[in-house]
Amino acid sequence: MVSVTRAVFGDLPLGAGTVEKFQLQSDQLRVDIISWGCTITALEVKDRQGRASDVVLGFDELEGYLQKQPYFGAVVGRVANRIAKGTFMLDGKEYKLAINNGPNSLHGGVKGFDKVLWTPRVLSNGVEFSRVSPDGEEGYPGELKVWVTYTLDGGELVVNYRAQASQTTPVNLTNHSYFNLAGQGSPNIYDHEVTIEADAFLPVNEVLIPTGEIASVQGTAFDLRKPVELGKHLQEFHVNGFDHNFCLKGSKEKRFCARVYHAGSGRVLEVYTTQPGVQFYTGNFLDGTLKGKSGAVYPKHSGFCLETQSWPDAVNQFPPILPNKNFNSMKIKDCSLLYSKANSTWHTEGARALCQPVQDEYQMWVLSCHGYKKGVDLHTLYSLSCKCKQNFLCLLNSFFAPNPSSVFLSSHN
Ligand code: GLA
Repeated sequence: MVSVTRAVFGDLPLGAGTVEKFQLQSDQLRVDIISWGCTITALEVKDRQGRASDVVLGFDELEGYLQKQPYFGAVVGRVANRIAKGTFMLDGKEYKLAINNGPNSLHGGVKGFDKVLWTPRVLSNGVEFSRVSPDGEEGYPGELKVWVTYTLDGGELVVNYRAQASQTTPVNLTNHSYFNLAGQGSPNIYDHEVTIEADAFLPVNEVLIPTGEIASVQGTAFDLRKPVELGKHLQEFHVNGFDHNFCLKGSKEKRFCARVYHAGSGRVLEVYTTQPGVQFYTGNFLDGTLKGKSGAVYPKHSGFCLETQSWPDAVNQFPPILPNKNFNSMKIKDCSLLYSKANSTWHTEGARALCQPVQDEYQMWVLSCHGYKKGVDLHTLYSLSCKCKQNFLCLLNSFFAPNPSSVFLSSHN
């Protein structure tokens, strides 16, 4: 049983509208989402003792979300991540986007999808947000209609993205939640064990634009194919943190992307996606100056993001394959193919969808929390966690396994 409640969260300045909060609750999970930026403001899940904690960073009040802040919980777009120098060529025309991150355009520009009021619609088990991004918004071509839905399905929170463009445009939507599985406000994520199913990553230059190389993770700090304890791992490789795109194996199907395990609480977070990449970001720019929920401060490395996405700067670096009659037979790499064709529905599987005019299926991001009981065998647990459709993220309570992440891994091999 899922309940959905609706309440006023706050008023925007200058009579610009009212922000509402939608609370989705099941036996296992409670999630709060506001209509400002489709932002997840709270996510409560139990630990192995059954004690619930909020595991996402954020603010108590609307004012927190309106100040300059690092995209806590928000949906980012029209194009998540960076576009070098904020420019790209499309159909022979040069487009210039709003620049907001050094020389680059980041997460949609100065006023991206995280900084707008969306129109909500209550669903039986969730909430849908929609908006129309006008032609030329932040420099992007064409009008884009966008729908984001969050639904609780049993123990799973599913996030779907869908967009429809009036003209060819790059699109890349993701959710920018910062997690700390020990509970938000915990000082760091060093005791989290991280696994990312990627054989390659994109090295970046000094302004975090991919250099063009698709590098093997083998023998590097980026080899997270087996679980690593984050703090020790960063020390061992003398790295300051991650803020990189990991290249996921190419497939239109939902597949395992990442797992994070927190031994202290027994919480496990899993991400599955249909997207070609995931930005693993360890909160390197958090500096403890923001006043967070319940008086929390958020120092560097106090939260992590797993932003499933098309590859950064794909519009410039990984030439788009626009729909054509040979499209289906083309061999495409794991690169970001992110164009929305006029009057076709785009979904975040990438451009492979574009040769088909309209798709009903689209990316899902599922957050799941199963209250597994003692005695459930590990294989059942694993297949339950894989049952969700499409792109999903599972947050599991472990009531019994001393180290479920290694158990999951061995199931995977
Ligand atoms: C993304 C980027 C980071 C940073 C954060 C927001 O994850 O990759 O470099 O900009 O967003 O602070």
